[in-house]
Amino acid sequence: MPVTYEWRGPLSNAEVDRLHAEAFAAPTPAATERDWVPQLDQHSLGWVVARDVGTLVGFVNVAWDGLAHAWLIDTMVSKAHRGTGIGRELVQMACHRAKEAGCQWLHADYEDDLRHFYEDVCGFAPTHAGLIALA
Ligand SMILES: CC(C)(COP(=O)(O)OP(=O)(O)OC[C@H]1O[C@@H](n2cnc3c(N)ncnc32)[C@H](O)[C@@H]1OP(=O)(O)O)[C@@H](O)C(=O)NCCC(=O)NCCS
Repeated sequence: MPVTYEWRGPLSNAEVDRLHAEAFAAPTPAATERDWVPQLDQHSLGWVVARDVGTLVGFVNVAWDGLAHAWLIDTMVSKAHRGTGIGRELVQMACHRAKEAGCQWLHADYEDDLRHFYEDVCGFAPTHAGLIALA
């Protein structure tokens, strides 16, 4: 059975926490206690869920400003499923849905080792961005 992709697909806190802990090796305590479902539902433009026979294997959150800008957050694929094109599909669907919602720009920030994935595979143009550590 092929991996399925769903925009604003249903999910549980426990399964996103599990995937997040695996993808981002050292989660903060706050991250593991996050109440994902209302946060996504009330504040995101949407999110993409990838499932393999029911199991959550990929996820990306699409935050937005309600108008022209959307941002990818927490792009993640389970270790066992990486390198099979799921990440690219997640980003493609996020991009398509953001465009459909009227957004003009899709942003992502990433470290050097992910440039190939975001720029060559997903089509992001490199740009300057800034960051301030608040904690
Ligand atoms: C980044 C991530 C989402 C990519 O998902 P994926 O399903 O493995 O991606 P795809 O299979 O669509 O990969 C497509 C390409 O990107 C490359 N790629 C994927 N992850 C990469 C990584 N971490 N470093 C370098 N290249 C990577 C693959 O080699 C592949 O290249 P190719 O087509 O030239 O062979 C996944 O590696 C992941 O969950 N990483 C941990 C969490 C993370 O760092 N997220 C990004 C936050 S900014």
